[in-house]
Amino acid sequence: MMDALEKELWQAAVKVRQNAYTPYSRFKVGAAVLAASGKIYTGCNIENASYGLTCCAERNAIFAAVCAGERELKLLCVTAEGELPVAPCGACRQVIAEFAIPKIIMTNLQGSAKTMTAEELLPYSFGAASME
Ligand code: THU
Repeated sequence: MMDALEKELWQAAVKVRQNAYTPYSRFKVGAAVLAASGKIYTGCNIENASYGLTCCAERNAIFAAVCAGERELKLLCVTAEGELPVAPCGACRQVIAEFAIPKIIMTNLQGSAKTMTAEELLPYSFGAASME
C-alpha cells in the first residue's frame, strides 16, 4: 500500500505519462521524483527515429530536478501500463545510483506498487568512489 505522499507522486507520474512521446514503441511511461526541497519533478519517455536517442521517463524526471537546482532526491515513482509494476532500465538504474535515491516505487496504472532501494536495483555499482 502506498502512503499519501507516495500516492501523490504516483498520481503525478500517471498524469505526466500522458505526455509521453512514443510513436515507435507505443509504450508510455511516467515518472515523478520528490526532492529534498519538497518539490515534485516529473518526466515522461521521449523517443526518437534514431531509436538509441530515446530518453526514459525516470531520467527525464531526475534531470528536470537537477536542472532546477536540486541535488538531494528522496523518492522516485515510475509508472506504466502492465500487470506488474514497471522496472527501470539499466541506464536509469545507473542514474538512480548516481543521485543515491533511497527509495524507488515501481507501479502500474492500477496502483500496484513494489518498492526497492537504489542499492537493490543496482548492486555493486560503478560510482564516484570507484575512481578514488
Ligand atoms: N522506458 C522508460 O521510459 N522507462 C522504463 O522504466 C522502461 C522503458 C521507455 C523507453 C522506451 O521509450 C519505451 O519505454 C520502450 O522501451
